[in-house]
Amino acid sequence: MTRANRLPFALAAGIVATLFLGACERPPTQSKQIGYRGVGMEQVINPRTAAKTIAAVKIPDVIPAADPGGPKASTIYKNVKVLGDLTENEFNRTMAAITEWVSPEQGCAYCHNVENMADDNVYTKVVARRMFQMTRHINETWKSHVGETGVTCYTCHAGKPVPENIWFQSKDKASKSIMAGYRGGSQNNANKSVGSTAMTADPFSDLLGGGKNEIRVQATKALPGTHNVSIQDTEKTYALMIHMSEGLGVNCTFCHNSRSFGNWTSSTPQRTSAWHGIRMVRDVNSAFLTPLQSAYPATRLGPHGDAPKAFCSTCHQGLAKPLNGAQMLKSYLELNKTALK
Ligand code: HEC
Ligand code: HEC
Ligand code: HEC
Ligand code: HEC
Repeated sequence: MTRANRLPFALAAGIVATLFLGACERPPTQSKQIGYRGVGMEQVINPRTAAKTIAAVKIPDVIPAADPGGPKASTIYKNVKVLGDLTENEFNRTMAAITEWVSPEQGCAYCHNVENMADDNVYTKVVARRMFQMTRHINETWKSHVGETGVTCYTCHAGKPVPENIWFQSKDKASKSIMAGYRGGSQNNANKSVGSTAMTADPFSDLLGGGKNEIRVQATKALPGTHNVSIQDTEKTYALMIHMSEGLGVNCTFCHNSRSFGNWTSSTPQRTSAWHGIRMVRDVNSAFLTPLQSAYPATRLGPHGDAPKAFCSTCHQGLAKPLNGAQMLKSYLELNKTALK
């Protein structure tokens, strides 16, 4: 190559490099060691993108606590089936709070026939009543996952009637074989819910819908013939793991020592939290969200007619702790049944 044509070549190489690296993150990145020395268990974060995600978390101002005392809501109102244990003031404060958390633009009318607040003919009111039971159930029975931080409607809804992250059975749930993917099934179509990989787009029906128990796919013995896990189950496991990592905005090593993904003693405490989280999500989907199917209008249902369901990103929304750890529940004990007893 002559000296004269070296420059355009360097320029062209630079442009090509820029095109290819366009999707990469600009340095600097920081890494934090979270496991034993030398095992590569660390979290890599880019302070600029992390700052943006954290700045996006907006926590509504707390509504002043209700004056204590006064009659119970059940004695004042006509059709109160879940919140009857609250005082009238607590009840009204709760209505104001959920309006801000779920339907700030639409107001009370999103759930109510404003001519008659006791009327149950608006479907959103029927759904919301079950949501109260679900939220209290999570705060009361799933402390192993949500701790004292707990959840409010805002954890999932964040000011919107339909939470940002929900899932339905995949369009192609019938295709059990990998080959089906080549005919345009749920396989080999890059899907956002599993990190744009070509793995099955719906590991959720099987692993988070209810049913199935321990998620174990790795061999525990060296010899062949002792390990009978199908490729499909393995793929579903990895697809779920990608959703979990993306949903929390972390790497696999947030929970695992990659020397042995299955080994619990070398995993982090966060993996135990996640184990409880998986069971909590199954419980919430099978006991509350799936059975709400008949309450929704057809436009809210999935391609198979199933109800919208929750997974990790419904609450976490890209953060290791939902709302970056903000403790909203302690200002709204109306949503924590045990606190009211
Ligand atoms: C996200 C849905 C939702 C929104 C928004 C909402 N409510 Fe409610 N409201 C409910 C549910 C559910 C019940 C029934 C609670 C129960 O059965 O324990 C209820 C019950 C009531 C009742 C009792 C009516 C009766 O006589 O039985 C009143 C009063 C009420 N709401 C007022 C309001 C006001 C005022 C607003 C706006 C500031 C509001 N609500 C916003 C869901 C909602
Ligand atoms: C674990 C996450 C989660 C929590 C906590 C939660 N919700 Fe929901 N909510 C959902 C999901 C998922 C849906 C289904 C979305 C849809 O309707 O398409 C939903 C739907 C709704 C709807 C129906 C919206 C529509 O237009 O179809 C209302 C109303 C609602 N929730 C109110 C509440 C209230 C009030 C609370 C707190 C007492 C609450 N939710 C707590 C996940 C949650
Ligand atoms: C938030 C914590 C968390 C993250 C992040 C995570 N995992 Fe997991 N992983 C778990 C838990 C919990 C289990 C066990 C699930 C169960 O039994 O229900 C598991 C199980 C597994 C298994 C099966 C282990 C066995 O015994 O057969 C593999 C393989 C695995 N994860 C790989 C990955 C990969 C690869 C990533 C990154 C893409 C990842 N995980 C990210 C928590 C996590
Ligand atoms: C109903 C809302 C909700 C859902 C759904 C949910 N989580 Fe969580 N998760 C929380 C809350 C709240 C915390 C914070 C608990 C605390 O502060 O002690 C948390 C904490 C965690 C932590 C600990 C983080 C840390 O920094 O210590 C892990 C890991 C985790 N969740 C994993 C998961 C996984 C994996 C899923 C899906 C299988 C999931 N979560 C689904 C609400 C949820």
